[in-house]
Amino acid sequence: MDNPTFRLNVHIEKDNCSILLDSSGDSLHRRGYRIKGGIAPLNEVLAAGMIYLSEWDLESNFVDPMCGSGTLLIEAALMSRNIPPNLNREHFGFMNWKTFDKNLFAKVKGELISKQKKITHKIIGNDLSPNSIELAEHNAKAANVFENIELKVGDFKNFAHNLESGIIITNPPYDERIKQENINEFYKEFGDTLKIIFAGFDAWILSANLQALKSIGLRTSKRIQLFNGALETKFYNYKLYKGSLKAKYDK
Ligand SMILES: C[S@@+](CC[C@H](N)C(=O)[O-])C[C@H]1O[C@@H](n2cnc3c(N)ncnc32)[C@H](O)[C@@H]1O
Repeated sequence: MDNPTFRLNVHIEKDNCSILLDSSGDSLHRRGYRIKGGIAPLNEVLAAGMIYLSEWDLESNFVDPMCGSGTLLIEAALMSRNIPPNLNREHFGFMNWKTFDKNLFAKVKGELISKQKKITHKIIGNDLSPNSIELAEHNAKAANVFENIELKVGDFKNFAHNLESGIIITNPPYDERIKQENINEFYKEFGDTLKIIFAGFDAWILSANLQALKSIGLRTSKRIQLFNGALETKFYNYKLYKGSLKAKYDK
C-alpha cells in the first residue's frame, strides 16, 4: 500500500515476537531521487553506509570511476552539503496522525534547510555506459545536487583529472548481474589504473568477487564485510601513496 498511516513490522525469531510501529509509512531507504535504477544500482542506504565506513572527511574530492546511476555520488553530495535524506519528501505516515503538529514540522524542516552548506570540493562520476551517466544525471537532478556533481562518459583507464588527492569509493561489476569477459583481468587493470592515475588517493572498493579482488594487486589497509541484499561482499580499502610506500616511511 502506498503512503500507509501506520506500518506494522512483525519479526518472529524462535519464541520471540517483536511488533514495531513504523511512523514513516513508506520505507526510509527510498530517498525519492531514484527516478530510474541502472542495471545493478546500489541500495541508497548501503551507499551511505559505505561512505560513513570510509571515514571520508566530507571535504576532500570524491570520485566514483564506475558510478552507474550515481548512488554513491548523490549520497556523498547530500552528506557534504548537510542535506538530510528525504528532506523534500512530501508525505510521512505520521502526518495523518491526530497529534501531528504541522507548524512544528515546518519549523524543524526550515531549520534543517538553513543548515545546508555550500561545497567547493569536486564530486566526480565516470562510467563507460552513456545510459548510466544519463541516469546519474537524472537522479542527481531529482536529489537537487546536480550542480555539485561532474559526470563523464568513458573507460576508467582513460579518466583524466587534475586532482592532487581525494577518495575513491566504487563498486565495479562483480560478474553477477553485469558480466565481464575476464573479470580477473578487469580487476587487475583497475588496480593498475589506481596506481597510475590515482596516486595520492584513498580507494575503497565493494565487490562480491573475492577472487577478482585479489587480482587488483594492491595491499589492503582495511577489510570490511558487508551485505548487498543477500549477497556477501567485501569492502576493501587501499592507500594509494605517491611514489613507493618505502619512500613515504623513509621521509
Ligand atoms: C555495479 S555497477 C555500479 C552501480 C552504481 N554504484 C549505482 O549505484 O548505480 C558497475 C558499473 O561499472 C561500469 N563499468 C564497467 N566497465 C567499466 C569501465 N571499463 N570503465 C568505466 N565504467 C565501467 C558499468 O557500466 C556499471 O555501470
